[in-house]
Order: sequence, then C-alpha cells, then structure tokens
Amino acid sequence: MLNRREATLAIAALLAGAAGVGAQGQEAQPPRDATGRRPAERARGGAAEAFFVSPPLAKDDAEKRVLDVLAEMDRNRGRMQSVPMDDGRFLRLLAEFAGAQHVVEIGTSQGVSAIWFCLALRNTGGKLTTFEINPDRAELARANFKRAGVEELVSLVLGDAHEKVLEITESVDLLFLDADKPGYRDYLEKLFPKLRPGGLVVAHNIDPRMADPAFVKTITTDSRLDSLLVHLQAGGISVSLRKRGSS
Ligand SMILES: C[S@@+](CC[C@H](N)C(=O)[O-])C[C@H]1O[C@@H](n2cnc3c(N)ncnc32)[C@H](O)[C@@H]1O
Repeated sequence: MLNRREATLAIAALLAGAAGVGAQGQEAQPPRDATGRRPAERARGGAAEAFFVSPPLAKDDAEKRVLDVLAEMDRNRGRMQSVPMDDGRFLRLLAEFAGAQHVVEIGTSQGVSAIWFCLALRNTGGKLTTFEINPDRAELARANFKRAGVEELVSLVLGDAHEKVLEITESVDLLFLDADKPGYRDYLEKLFPKLRPGGLVVAHNIDPRMADPAFVKTITTDSRLDSLLVHLQAGGISVSLRKRGSS
C-alpha cells in the first residue's frame, strides 16, 4: 500500500507523462517552429485552412473598390512589410466590432493596414490617425488612400511617431503598433492615457524573433490590461484590452 507522499509522487509522474514531460522535467515533445507551432499543430492548422476557405467578399461596389486595391497591394507587397491579408481582415473586424471612432496606427508604410481599418471606419463613422517617418512611403500611402477612396477618413502624420504622438489630444479606441519593435513600449506609455477604458492595444509581429521582451512583459503583467496572443501562423498579434475602471 502506498503512503500519501508516494501516492502524490505517483500521480504527479502520471500527469507529467500525459503532458509529455520527461524524467528531467524537460519537454519530450517535438520542438515548435518559428510560428510557435509543433508538427501536429501545423498539420491540424493545414487541415483547418483547407476546411475553412473564406476570401473577403464585397457587399457593394464601394467595398469592392477598396478590396480590389487591397488585393493588388497584397500581390505587390514586396519589401514593404505590410500586414498579410488575414491580419488586415482581423484588424478590420476588431475596429468594426469595437465601433471605433478613432483608431491610431504607428507605422503606415504604404497603407495596407490603414486601408483595412478604413473598411471598418466607413461603417462606424470613425477616423484613422496614422504615423510614418519615411516621406516616400507616406507619399505612396497617400496615393493608395486616394485609389481606395478612403482619403477622407485618414490623417497621415509624417515624422517620428515617438515625438508626434504627444500631439494627440482626442480619445483613442484602438491603438495599432506596427513600426520600430523596440519602440512599442514607449508608444504604449505615451498613448495609454488617451486609450479609452474598454479600448484595445493591438501589436503586430509579437513573435520570439521580433518582439521586444520588455513590451511583452508590460502587456502581460500590467493588471490594467488583459492580453492575448492570436494569429500565430502569421507572426503573432497581441490584443490587449484596457480594462474598464483602470486608472
Ligand atoms: C512594418 S511597416 C508598417 C506596415 C503597415 N502597417 C502596413 O500594413 O502596410 C513599419 C513602418 O514603420 C515606419 N516607422 C519606423 N519607425 C518609425 C517611427 N519612429 N515613427 C513613424 N514611423 C516609423 C517605417 O518607416 C515603416 O514604414
């Protein structure tokens, strides 16, 4: 008959075995790939992608015009490091669901994520303020906003966002970070007071290769925020809710 201590150890050993933990407490499972998935998870992901094929569908001519521009930009993404299509769709979904009146984006580039936000803002009656440090990219983005017919919804601020964001006076419903990765924490600190309670901080490229660990630590340990990591297959997007009632 086992005494209580032996029984506890036996149960712990069984649980460890079920979780794939080896004798030295090391993981016995195959390693994760760059997107954070193990081979079995990758296979499941591939099956899910084949099972759930859902291209963006235009509900009217105006939406078709925007989606056509986005499809063309996606084909020519090249070295612009724009958000992939599914990430853009996710951003639109968040902004539209939040009924966003004011979205702030750090890192416009040629304007892909900005145009996805505009698809939401056309419906919510909101607007986008987006920051870009590179004049050529800013000019290209402006041309793309015109092509998509969303230029009225966007204020593009040219310059270093670390300084320029201090000029924001209005409340922010959704803050999207997609510029210099080591700068994310500074942007969050500067804009947190403007983020409305119940608002969202969304950060792109939150994966082990690119993300700033200090930013990840902030969003996962600050009790005023509740943060999740999603879209791992495309590099990782963190979504943090600014809890209502937080100072
Ligand atoms: C990954 S790209 C943004 C992609 C864009 N969100 C899209 O989906 O099309 C990052 C952009 O941030 C800009 N950037 C980097 N540091 C910046 C800063 N301090 N202020 C403003 N923009 C900055 C870069 O010039 C670059 O165009």
